[in-house]
Amino acid sequence: MNYKTSAQLRDLWHDFFSRRGHTIIRSASLIPENDPTVLFTTAGMHPLVPYLLGEKHPGGVRLANVQKCVRTGDIDEVGDASHCTFFEMLGNWSLGDYFKAEMIRFSYEFLTSSEFLGIDPQRLAVSVFAGDADAPRDEESAAAWHSLGIPVERIFFLPKKNNWWGPAGITGPCGPDTEMFIDFNKPCSPDCSPACDCGNYLEIWNDVFMQYNKTADGSFEPLKQKNVDTGMGLERTVCILQGKSSVYETDVFAPVIAEIEKLTGKTYGADEETTRAMRIVADHVRTAVFMIGDEKGIAPSNVGQGYILRRLLRRAIRYIKGLGVRGQGTGEADGKEGTSTHESRLSTIAASFIRQYSAAYPELSQNAQKVIDEIAREEERFEKTLANGLKEFDKLCGYLVGDTVSGKAAFKLYDTYGFPLEMTEELAAERGLKVNSGDFLKQFNEHQQLSRAGAEAVFKGGLADHSEIITRLHTATHLMHQALKTVLNDDNVNQKGSNITAERLRFDFSFSRPVTPDEQRKVEQLVNAAIAANVPIDCTEMTVEEAKASGAIGLFASKYGEKVKVYSMGAFSKEICGGPHALKTGELGKFKIVKEESSSAGVRRIKAVLE
Ligand code: ALA
Repeated sequence: MNYKTSAQLRDLWHDFFSRRGHTIIRSASLIPENDPTVLFTTAGMHPLVPYLLGEKHPGGVRLANVQKCVRTGDIDEVGDASHCTFFEMLGNWSLGDYFKAEMIRFSYEFLTSSEFLGIDPQRLAVSVFAGDADAPRDEESAAAWHSLGIPVERIFFLPKKNNWWGPAGITGPCGPDTEMFIDFNKPCSPDCSPACDCGNYLEIWNDVFMQYNKTADGSFEPLKQKNVDTGMGLERTVCILQGKSSVYETDVFAPVIAEIEKLTGKTYGADEETTRAMRIVADHVRTAVFMIGDEKGIAPSNVGQGYILRRLLRRAIRYIKGLGVRGQGTGEADGKEGTSTHESRLSTIAASFIRQYSAAYPELSQNAQKVIDEIAREEERFEKTLANGLKEFDKLCGYLVGDTVSGKAAFKLYDTYGFPLEMTEELAAERGLKVNSGDFLKQFNEHQQLSRAGAEAVFKGGLADHSEIITRLHTATHLMHQALKTVLNDDNVNQKGSNITAERLRFDFSFSRPVTPDEQRKVEQLVNAAIAANVPIDCTEMTVEEAKASGAIGLFASKYGEKVKVYSMGAFSKEICGGPHALKTGELGKFKIVKEESSSAGVRRIKAVLE
């Protein structure tokens, strides 16, 4: 195995795949575009769904990238050796081009060649799909591995639970996969396999063969185009290459752990509790840095993505307070240690991450001040109420009859002291108690803290939706974006976020004052005029420079020379976008603004519907 830094691994990945005819595409934003049901990008394939379903990608049929991903489903596990809420996924795709045999050759070469990862083939084990009523046993992949020298006893046939990939339980592209593992050669029993969680097999890479589309009735229909979608977790791979027992000990986290040691005067590894707390702080701050510093950056709030961000930051604040301030007591919730004793410690940690990641993700240095300010503000806000909230929590535990904290009490902690529900649940679990979260939600909705869509966004997950109504609302979003620029006569009016559900579109844009009712009417009139004109919607591919020169608006976040799609709606709107869109504006119906409000400092939010 060759020791590699995380930066070297990114470079190697790009190098390997570009030398094999792949276009290197930029990491998509962490905030999914026009996707009502997922809060964050969770895999490299996520922004590529339309292309896996047959749409033409401007970069061609071979793509690769390093994608920023957030998965918060396992947030409670963070603190162990390997879980992270943010991670980088090394990925490559064949859109109807090469398939199983060639991909497996690529994988074997990248993993074992001394020019790349140099892993001893004796240490590799693989799994392939065992077959069921939906799809056959994957003999083709097994044969491909065998022909490269992987012996049959290290090729495991496993069921759908292990060797099938597609966003869980939902419609969309999916298929059997083959997974690669480091074999530590200490099987726990003769039946030990990569399906066993004893730790003998550590997954390193997943090659998915997306050849089916799971339809709404649960059946698997073959896709016209057979695709490859692969994903390798950068942090975990670096951990293996550097021979560490935890990702937090690799070059990804080491500088920040050192910073946390400096800030707190504690030593990583001194005891389990300290180690866990430091890992939680490091993980959560890193994720927050990427969320706020994203090209479509978000801010802490009480709904949707902003709520997840708030939850991460507040959890990090609680843990860093537990670690204490250098040269002082532990700073536990005594109400004395607090705002005046330190500057924002989380911002200091954030600054360290920004320095470390800026070369790979320039958006972080571009947005550095915003990241630092948002984190410091959130720390200040929460510090004001944290100690009192913890006292309140202690008090209510004292009165508690039974083992369940009521929804009402949890709501008070949320509403008055800013405790995210999950934090109350965590505090309760530490004392062997539960929280009535159903009742909490009822209180929540009664207080109208959260719109219905927002509540679902916080508490559910899902996948991309390209239904007709979503597509129309997406087209309406483009028309409105241009109309806002025209009516407000301000070129600095730019998209900051877009979220579409079957009921409405929501559009966030930079503008420093409310849009007046009169201006809103004008925007509606312009959009409705464009709809009445029933102009065809045209899509052209060009380089990002050409797009810019042609006057297209949109996020110019693409790399120099990268091809993008530009959607034009007559002379009215021209915008860089991934699609999809309606065919003609006349399909849209009547456009109406239903709400205009502030989203965050300098950002307005409009909700609109098509009637
Ligand atoms: N999309 C696949 C995964 O996330 C590669 O594992």
